[in-house]
Amino acid sequence: MTHATDPTAHRLIPVVVLDDAALARPLAEQLLADGIGVAEVTLRTPAALDSIRAMAEVDGLLVGAGTVLSADQVDQAVDAGAQFVVSPGLHRGVVERAAERGVVVVPGAVTPTEVMTALEWGITTLKFFPASTYGGPAALRALSAVFGTVRWVPTGGIGPHNVDEYLALPSVVAVGGSWMVTTALERLSEAGR
Ligand code: 3PG
Repeated sequence: MTHATDPTAHRLIPVVVLDDAALARPLAEQLLADGIGVAEVTLRTPAALDSIRAMAEVDGLLVGAGTVLSADQVDQAVDAGAQFVVSPGLHRGVVERAAERGVVVVPGAVTPTEVMTALEWGITTLKFFPASTYGGPAALRALSAVFGTVRWVPTGGIGPHNVDEYLALPSVVAVGGSWMVTTALERLSEAGR
């Protein structure tokens, strides 16, 4: 089941890494203008939480946090306005805190053992990261043959050259990547904003 704060209701999820929170609002507006209604702001830079705060104020954009590695980071992200959290791996603290805070969580899994653990925890939507390194569409096809209930969000090494190959897989609900952000930031810079 998806609802308004589920990032996988969108087919493309831009992965945002910002060093300057002042860019967050114009970037959010550019993404919306590009027809993209969601953004995953990674907690990899000191500007991340301020960027989430700024983007969360933009009407019509669903904003979440990525690279969430601990329960404390779930709290920080949700306090800043994140409506979902994404993690590169499978971490019980992250998953439990997200449930406590009432936000959608998309943790990462790449091996059958990790997938089985996620299923045991009741999680069926998983990030597949770094997708190109862990076998790309062929690996997802093989995993999907075994784990038919899992919905995948591949991320890492995806771009205009291969996104369609991932989106064509029935088990792939959405694809994440930074290329959409690069494009939007280029447009902003061309417009002098
Ligand atoms: C992520 O956090 O999902 C990745 O860093 C995005 O990978 P990409 O930059 O290769 O799209």
